[in-house]
Amino acid sequence: MVPDTTSAAYSSSQSVPQHVAVIMDGNGRWAVREKVSRGQGHKKGSEAVRQAIEGAVEAGVSYLTLYAFSSENWNRPQEEVSDLMGLLRFYLSREIKRLHKEGIKLKVIGHRERLAEDIQKMVAQAEALTADNSRLTLVIALSYGAREEITEAAKHIAAKVQSGDVALEDISEDLVSSSLQTKGIPDPDLIIRTSGEQRLSNFLLWQAAYAEFLFLDVLWPDFTKEIFHEAVQNYLTRERRYGARP
Ligand code: IPE
Ligand code: IPE
Ligand code: MG
Repeated sequence: MVPDTTSAAYSSSQSVPQHVAVIMDGNGRWAVREKVSRGQGHKKGSEAVRQAIEGAVEAGVSYLTLYAFSSENWNRPQEEVSDLMGLLRFYLSREIKRLHKEGIKLKVIGHRERLAEDIQKMVAQAEALTADNSRLTLVIALSYGAREEITEAAKHIAAKVQSGDVALEDISEDLVSSSLQTKGIPDPDLIIRTSGEQRLSNFLLWQAAYAEFLFLDVLWPDFTKEIFHEAVQNYLTRERRYGARP
């Protein structure tokens, strides 16, 4: 079980981020450093997910989004893709009951129809099982691409305009937000990327409009909950302005 400590541990009056999103990068470089296979790197990376979840629960964060597989990652060698899908199967079959016991709600965003049918089924079952949990919402981005997500939203809205359900003047930022797969999930306050890369790689492009960014040199398999807490501490030193005068 994850201990039920709260954000009281932080020395700041500012509130902890409600939503933290993580681009879990660097499994391949970790494998090179450790002189093991890429598959081993991904396996170690999947174990670090637990650290992020425990950190988020301890910190009192309400939403944790993890970028696990991008729409572009399908272009990797087939062997690597099937290693990753195998790990995903293993992870879902082993962790779902535990997540449920911990009061964690699971939600998957991304083009799920591209996933193997058995994985789609496991995802649907896990979402249904954990739907009423409220301690933390764990969003996993799988076969996810923000441009694809925005394109789908545009089509969805266009169809509504075409059918007369929505008037052109009624297309608003709120309507766009609620046509995305992240409907109902607040925008991320903090986006962390590991491995030293400083880019979004097609992650939450719309939702990241006012996110704070933190780029860490640590490789994802080396991620710990202590690093998560340090990231939250760092976030607490930021001044968020949203375009207003300081
Ligand atoms: C992140 O690690 C995992 C996925 C993108 C699925 P990488 O495999 O991208 O690791 P690097 O960037 O090559 O080190
Ligand atoms: C982004 O990492 C996707 C995930 C972490 C799942 P990549 O390693 O695929 O991104 P690029 O290719 O370095 O931009
Ligand atoms: Mg990478």
